[in-house]
Amino acid sequence: MNNNRRKFLRRMAIGTGALAAGLPSIASITGTSDEQMEHSSLFEKQGQRFNMCGYAAPKIETVRVGVAGLGMRGSDAVERLSYIDGLEITALCDKYPDRVTASQKTLEKMKRPKAKEYSGEEGWKALCESNDIDLVYTPTPWHLHTPIAVHAMKNGKHAATEVPAGKTMDELWELVETSEKTKKHCMMLENCCYDFFELLTLNMARQGMFGEIVHTEGAYIHDLTKDWLFNKKAYADMWRLKENIGQNGNLYPTHGLGPIAQCMNINRGDKFDHLVSMSTGDFTMNRMVKELAAKDDFFKEYVDRPFRGNMNTTLIRTNKGKTVMVQHDVSTIRPYSRIHLVSGTKGVAQKWPGPARIAFGHSWVKQDEFKQLEEKYSPPIVKHIGAIAKEVGGHGGMDFIMDWRLIDCLRNGLPLDQDVYDAAAWSCLFPLSQRSVAKKSKTMDIPDFTRGAWKTNRPVSLSLDGGASTKVRDIKPDLKM
Ligand SMILES: NC(=O)c1ccc[n+]([C@@H]2O[C@H](COP(=O)([O-])OP(=O)(O)OC[C@H]3O[C@@H](n4cnc5c(N)ncnc54)[C@H](O)[C@@H]3O)[C@@H](O)[C@H]2O)c1
Repeated sequence: MNNNRRKFLRRMAIGTGALAAGLPSIASITGTSDEQMEHSSLFEKQGQRFNMCGYAAPKIETVRVGVAGLGMRGSDAVERLSYIDGLEITALCDKYPDRVTASQKTLEKMKRPKAKEYSGEEGWKALCESNDIDLVYTPTPWHLHTPIAVHAMKNGKHAATEVPAGKTMDELWELVETSEKTKKHCMMLENCCYDFFELLTLNMARQGMFGEIVHTEGAYIHDLTKDWLFNKKAYADMWRLKENIGQNGNLYPTHGLGPIAQCMNINRGDKFDHLVSMSTGDFTMNRMVKELAAKDDFFKEYVDRPFRGNMNTTLIRTNKGKTVMVQHDVSTIRPYSRIHLVSGTKGVAQKWPGPARIAFGHSWVKQDEFKQLEEKYSPPIVKHIGAIAKEVGGHGGMDFIMDWRLIDCLRNGLPLDQDVYDAAAWSCLFPLSQRSVAKKSKTMDIPDFTRGAWKTNRPVSLSLDGGASTKVRDIKPDLKM
């Protein structure tokens, strides 16, 4: 055994992991190191410990949830989750105590009992260690997703983490290893998989309506600059602006990738094999920060830093010879898009630019045929909870469909729709696209996080069999999000 491997396995064995949790303070434009790539292939060769795909954990009648991270996303999550019966929010945690207080007020407004409070930089550790939680739900900044999910699972809790699940290859393997060792679910909260058109196209793909899927496209194209990245009142401690410095690649791959990966049965019959990635230069962020710094000293420390290039384009080839294009751009002025293109031998669907469309030939189907397809192929989850989800809200309802489904699966002992392998495979573009960009678009092998199980894993279930018993509380107009 070589020295690197011995050192790495020792670190993993004593439980500190290989984590370098923290915001990137010094520019490291390679994305992932040679050492981490070596660890990744060692993990892959070790073989799977236990298959978490299709794993049904014991039923939990009332799911006790601890929410860590109560900013813009987390405070909304507290409200959404409060609508679900068979669920109690027993713990609230944020670095800043006033955010915990604000979420306690939400619980009060929703007529829910007070939760235990945790705060400070490391309050999440005590939350994960407490004995009155079944699920740790984590809408924190990115660098905390893996440390919190791992600590939760090691302390006997299921983990639901915001996107992306991890930032480095070591982190992603640590999630896989910990989930397999502890038999605790690790679900990435990829809400876009539960959007209405995405669910429609997933069911249509499953029914063979597009024939054999050949090529798909997804994206996160959303100009975040003025209102979000450079807004002092948006992301806590400017964490998301800092993430866009010194990391050049696709930093937010999963919203575009998750839904199309499900249509292609990735990790469940096919798998990502390799990728190449290319980024433009930065044409806006440094210019904008210079303008801001001229009027406000606060922004001076951000001037002339190595900002991420505006547009990153990554191409993936699967083992079965299909291709995927994923784009990421949060700093160019253009309308929002996740593309969501699913192209097969018999048909094609595309959501952005809108309106969402479907074709089985040279022309898109007309509105009435589209409506009929929607009626016929929207999967049972949409028919069961879609209307309520639209009322509760959260990105048009998809957030609530996701939350409800997660809790319903845990309560009924059903496998989750997204497992740790999906979290890892979709998130690994974060480090691997950066590494490819840094090496002039060099090809990067994408590891098999399932370690062979993808060949026999079953596609994600679109039925509600054995579930759908979880009720939703009355939605009062004055409580609506
Ligand atoms: N799925 C989606 O549609 C979606 C949408 C928005 C954000 N997100 C994700 O949600 C997460 C949070 O984003 P946001 O927009 O709410 O950002 P935010 O900055 O508003 O919230 C992050 C919160 O985490 C807290 N925090 C920071 N360090 C902490 C620590 N050590 N312990 C506990 N809490 C800590 C901050 O104080 C803040 O309240 C991110 O991962 C983001 O990518 C997902």
